[in-house]
Amino acid sequence: MALKVVILAAGKGTRMRSNQPKVLQPLAQKPLLQHVIDTVETLCCDEIITVIGHGAELVTSHVSAQNMCFTLQEEQLGTGHAVMQANEHYSESDTVLVLYGDVPLTRVATLQRLLELVDEQHPLALLTVTLEDSTGYGRIVRDSNGAVQAIVEQKDADAEVLAIKEVNTGIMAVKGAQLKQWLSVLDNCNAQSEYYLTDIIAMAVSDGFTIQTAQPDDEMEVLGVNDKLQLQNLERQYQYQCAKLLMQQGATVVDAQRLDIRGVVTVEPDVTFDVNVVLEGNVSLGTNVTVGAHCVLKNVQVAANTHIHPFSHLEDCIVGQNCSIGPYARLRPGTELADEAKIGNFVEIKKSKIGLGSKVSHLSYIGDTNMGNDVNIGAGTITCNYDGVNKHQTIIGDHVFVGSDTQLVAPVEIEAGATIGAGSTITKRAPANELTLSRSKQLTIKGWAPPVK
Ligand code: UD1
Ligand code: CA
Repeated sequence: MALKVVILAAGKGTRMRSNQPKVLQPLAQKPLLQHVIDTVETLCCDEIITVIGHGAELVTSHVSAQNMCFTLQEEQLGTGHAVMQANEHYSESDTVLVLYGDVPLTRVATLQRLLELVDEQHPLALLTVTLEDSTGYGRIVRDSNGAVQAIVEQKDADAEVLAIKEVNTGIMAVKGAQLKQWLSVLDNCNAQSEYYLTDIIAMAVSDGFTIQTAQPDDEMEVLGVNDKLQLQNLERQYQYQCAKLLMQQGATVVDAQRLDIRGVVTVEPDVTFDVNVVLEGNVSLGTNVTVGAHCVLKNVQVAANTHIHPFSHLEDCIVGQNCSIGPYARLRPGTELADEAKIGNFVEIKKSKIGLGSKVSHLSYIGDTNMGNDVNIGAGTITCNYDGVNKHQTIIGDHVFVGSDTQLVAPVEIEAGATIGAGSTITKRAPANELTLSRSKQLTIKGWAPPVK
């Protein structure tokens, strides 16, 4: 007996008014369908079968998983017809879990609860939810004993059924043998002339089975996306959940509505996020780290007690303890700051190591540089790392002092303890512990008069 998961993802999503297939619309920068796939992967299933149709090629190239295959539903003739396309991928002894590619936030625990209800005596379990407004959904019809009798779609329902608040989420678990049998006798005699998967519920009842039902912990888990409004609504709910998780781990979030997480974030206690922070990829922040307003951090690792001041942008970098970054700093890929480094305003660092306690405080570009400890880089210093074709290295030893408005033309080395006079253009090695400068002498032209008309 194996667990097979069928994800329905063939629909067009007309109401999205998008050139992209609906299931590729992004939630926290990840396709809706990928959210479903990632959840399923933590379920330990034996195979994922994704039913695709609209934008099939795009869909196959933008999502990925181990143990996943795609099956094409050329015409979208209904959810029952969609599941029929997966017929060859499961056997009679398998359990089949049906999910929708546009319902991204179902929790693993909820799916596990549903799956536990299925056995030989109970071949069908449904995930249902009670909604204040059940418009549009298939209604769960129960008898006087509370046993599920059928699902009736909105368009096929009379007034009495329309009043039912318990609805079909679409998510169900079915034994392979019965699923095959029920699908083989499905018809499309209904208001939409579609093959409804939901018709198998009444079939199960008439075969004498009791339908099992489970409910999600949170309504958000079963909300689908049909238009951009619902997409942003789910995005906000998802973001709120992420912020809540961080707070539970000890982070201080100034405004949970103004924090966006588009990846995986780990925090130590007392990390603080000011407003409008965006975190992407893998971000890990040590204890007491503060992230100022309007910062974007993508794939960064920051050690304890470092302060990232407002409007800073960090990508693919590693930052030590007790550092100070920004405001308005940009740390590009390959930046490594040792402990106690200081990167000030309007400073760009790329693919460089900045040593312990070194400071680049104002208006500088440091690229392809290996900088030692306790270095001070004056305002407006530029490493000229690019000759138009190749990138070259700058090496700066410990305790170097570089005066303001200096160009270091790479490849070049500034040896330990050297001082560079302000306004220099350094093209050759600057020896250790000496003052090096390249600057024409200041002169004053006595009696010089400005030109006259
Ligand atoms: C379906 C259910 C309804 C439930 C609702 C929950 C049926 C008949 N109805 O209705 O009871 O309350 O979901 O949201 O099942 N799809 C395909 N191929 C198709 C048709 C649909 O892949 O031929 C996919 C869609 O891309 C979508 C999912 O199946 O991801 C649901 O389809 P949709 O048309 O939205 O179903 P509803 O009418 O909303
Ligand atoms: Ca729908």
